[in-house]
Amino acid sequence: MNTLNPKNTQNRTALITGSGRGIGKETAIMLARQVENIVVCSRTKNEINEVVKDIEEINDQVNIIGTKCDVSISSQVNSLVRSAVDRFGSESIDILVNNAGVAFDKKLVDTSEDKWDQTIDTNLKGAFLITKAILPYMIKRESGTILNVNSGAGKAGFSFLSSYCASKFALAGLAESLALEVDMYNIRVMTIFLGQVATKMWQYYDYNYYEKNKNKMLSPKKAAAKIVEMILDVKKYKNGDSVEMYNP
Ligand SMILES: NC(=O)c1ccc[n+]([C@@H]2O[C@H](COP(=O)([O-])OP(=O)(O)OC[C@H]3O[C@@H](n4cnc5c(N)ncnc54)[C@H](OP(=O)(O)O)[C@@H]3O)[C@@H](O)[C@H]2O)c1
Repeated sequence: MNTLNPKNTQNRTALITGSGRGIGKETAIMLARQVENIVVCSRTKNEINEVVKDIEEINDQVNIIGTKCDVSISSQVNSLVRSAVDRFGSESIDILVNNAGVAFDKKLVDTSEDKWDQTIDTNLKGAFLITKAILPYMIKRESGTILNVNSGAGKAGFSFLSSYCASKFALAGLAESLALEVDMYNIRVMTIFLGQVATKMWQYYDYNYYEKNKNKMLSPKKAAAKIVEMILDVKKYKNGDSVEMYNP
């Protein structure tokens, strides 16, 4: 199963959430070399504008939507998916990378309800909302790939990271369950579990640690290259598969 119908590889749309910087941005840039239509989004418009410019410089044949979208808000997610369908066609919706994420460095007793909600709503509910919005199109065309960007913190607990770990453990459960649900439709749901990646997430999380250790971290380009390989190599990576990538 899960061998893409060749006719479906001619007009594909890939949506990458949280693609204004870091791993999402590099993934969008790499996918834009292989896929006809790209949708990039985050909450920061000027970062999205920069990514759109970078992609256009690399491949002026690719069609791009670059827009603001907070994945934790269903109306924004639904309007993003609607724009992609209206512009590129419902039958083209083929690739979703659930990458948008936030992390906060707090003991559980110091975690505000607000930060808890933001973490769960972005990392988990955001993936649920956009997957739910996109899945009917993939089911109809009987092909598609959903790749969830997870973390070592989705497999093991870490102190000061309880909200993040809770969101990422749950995201892994969502992916495992969905993979079983959609197998009959030739849809692949996969997960990448990453170690430390040298992005702004670490700079915000613990700047001193980042400065001391950035050279020992994975680069966002390397993480993105593995994500793109998992998406495009349909013979090697099957529905339900996951990859752990912890070392540079
Ligand atoms: N860096 C690491 O060490 C590491 C390790 C394992 C896994 N990961 C995972 O990798 C993914 C990407 O992280 P990164 O390291 O590339 O971090 P990053 O550089 O901070 O990028 C995160 C992206 O997500 C976007 N984002 C955050 N909240 C959002 C929301 N509510 N709606 C839409 N977009 C949102 C951010 O843009 P705005 O803030 O402008 O919205 C940004 O574009 C995350 O899921 C993270 O958990 C990272």
